[in-house]
Amino acid sequence: MNKDFIKYQAQTSPYPLGMEVSHASGSYIYDTDGNAHLDFVAGVSACTLGHCHPNVVSAIKEQVEKYMHVMVYGEYAQSPATTYTKLLAANLPEPLEVTYLVNSGTEAIEGALKLARRYTGRSEIIAAKSAYHGNTMGSLSLMDFEERKSVFRPLLPDIYHIEFNNEEDLEKITHKTACVILETIQGGAGFILPKNGYLKKVMDRCKEMGALLILDEIQPGFGRTGKLFAFEHFDCIPDILVIGKGMASGLPVGAFTSSIEIMHTLSENPKMGHITTFGGNPVIAASSLATLNMLLNSSLIEDTLKKESLFKKLLKHPKIKEIRGRGLMLALIMDTPETANQLVLQAKEKHLILFWLLFENRAVRISPPLTITKKEIQEGCEIILALLNSL
Ligand SMILES: Cc1ncc(COP(=O)(O)O)c(C=O)c1O
Repeated sequence: MNKDFIKYQAQTSPYPLGMEVSHASGSYIYDTDGNAHLDFVAGVSACTLGHCHPNVVSAIKEQVEKYMHVMVYGEYAQSPATTYTKLLAANLPEPLEVTYLVNSGTEAIEGALKLARRYTGRSEIIAAKSAYHGNTMGSLSLMDFEERKSVFRPLLPDIYHIEFNNEEDLEKITHKTACVILETIQGGAGFILPKNGYLKKVMDRCKEMGALLILDEIQPGFGRTGKLFAFEHFDCIPDILVIGKGMASGLPVGAFTSSIEIMHTLSENPKMGHITTFGGNPVIAASSLATLNMLLNSSLIEDTLKKESLFKKLLKHPKIKEIRGRGLMLALIMDTPETANQLVLQAKEKHLILFWLLFENRAVRISPPLTITKKEIQEGCEIILALLNSL
């Protein structure tokens, strides 16, 4: 299968990991040779409830048997999306009440940027250095790595950058700013947490200047950091919340949420300010609803903090210089990029799935399903420690 995969499926790099997948269940992915791979990555923070969680599978099956796609987004009332957005609103602070469901994280970012420009009537957008918000033209324009952007220019104009956690930079937010967009916890940069009330200070400055604050929770959202949404740790409520990834436990999804007043501007003058065929798809909404219900009715969210402590207790080694992140969004910062690279590659041979971060080359990602057990954490950490001893 690998030969055809490389020949016929467009590649993102010359070095795909290339496991031939047979099936997946819980914390394991099984290859076509029958090996079980312990998954410490969860499809890059997407499989919140692990692989093929029974509640998710039965919600999907039940919905598939009723109807799949009946109309473009926004025309018909369909129970999965309606029930889901209502439950989400009940679990978000005011004024985050209305959710626009789309197909991916990057599309949700595009929608949020359009909404901020439409609502404020301003064009200037401020993003953080080392941020990652997705790969379509608008999201890519937010990135500050010229080597990744230059070949795709011209990109969106009127975008400026501030340094995450640098309070002096906040004066760059002015009456001309439509929005400031930040990841609540910077992912690709190395799982960097906001410090010293930074997000609240950004929120206050935005309010003063009449700019909107957009928080990208595509990675930390849905329980991964010990709260349903990571912004709840930081005394800050965004004007627009962007979510995705773990929302549907493994199906493609994204969404952005705001107040009725702000969101209303996308549906008039011009109407259809954002349109999508498949956004709010009933099968994906059913899967999102099953995921959210499971998170709200179990101890999985609070358990992430106990699991974080276990990882930190077990993963003590001279080659691990620091463990960054919160809950089950952890990055091992290794002594050198080479150690990080070798650890990911050699763990694969031991049937433990680890992965890199986009911009911090000393980092190794640990973002397992929230359902991972203590025993599985112990098993995986033993493999990591043995590999580090042999490197
Ligand atoms: C913080 C953040 N924003 C946006 C995205 C883009 O989401 P998607 O890949 O679903 O388009 C990602 C994906 O990794 C992400 O981590």
